[in-house]
Amino acid sequence: MLIGGAPALARNLTPTEDRPLTPTPYCDDGDDPTPAQMEGPYFKPNSPRRTSLVEAGTVGTRLTVSGYVFGLACKPIAGALLDFWQADNRGNYDNVGFRFRGHQFTDSTGAFRLETIVPGLYPGRTRHIHVKVQAPNRPILTTQLYFPGEPGNSSDTIYDPRLLMTMGNSGGTRTGAYDFVLNVQQDPTDPPDPEPGGTWKAGTVYRPGDRVTYGGATYECLQGHTAVAGWEPPSAPALWRRV
Ligand SMILES: [Fe+2]
Repeated sequence: MLIGGAPALARNLTPTEDRPLTPTPYCDDGDDPTPAQMEGPYFKPNSPRRTSLVEAGTVGTRLTVSGYVFGLACKPIAGALLDFWQADNRGNYDNVGFRFRGHQFTDSTGAFRLETIVPGLYPGRTRHIHVKVQAPNRPILTTQLYFPGEPGNSSDTIYDPRLLMTMGNSGGTRTGAYDFVLNVQQDPTDPPDPEPGGTWKAGTVYRPGDRVTYGGATYECLQGHTAVAGWEPPSAPALWRRV
């Protein structure tokens, strides 16, 4: 939905009269050679859990990205995973370590907040931030966020105006607002899901012998690891044994 050339924030929409919200469009990365790497060549799993990508000595224009994660009925999704990665001030990705990479989870109101810098430009792309967003136990949305008014937007074939942030300034920091709408059905009369996964949580370090619940069953950890989305106990028999 576009109003005055800028995207409306999903939080300002009226929750479902008769129409569900439109999911955030899926956006493939143009610098991706194969369908199996849709997130582009620079994604790395196991990013640190953190809400600030600013480290000592970080150079660049400070940027705070914030917003909410909603389902189709415009209800907030608590505990949704957001995994961000972006280029540094000079347009380079850190493919050795985890600079400008980090994941976090939405709070009980479905809100997220990322402290970072405005990413630099690199050849062939307009300015963008990569992100994967996943409601608990749901498919991953891989997409990108864009900046209004960028000269490169008109020539970048991947760019999609539906993924523009709403920009502002606050105390010398650039601010970008964006609300994700995931393709998750929500009955407007339902209460929020109470921890559908059980005690298992992505981002947790598990050691052999640890026990968790997931989907109503109990599992015992077989190998030490840091849990990530996609390694849920039922789908990771090398890591978890049902007990
Ligand atoms: Fe990129």
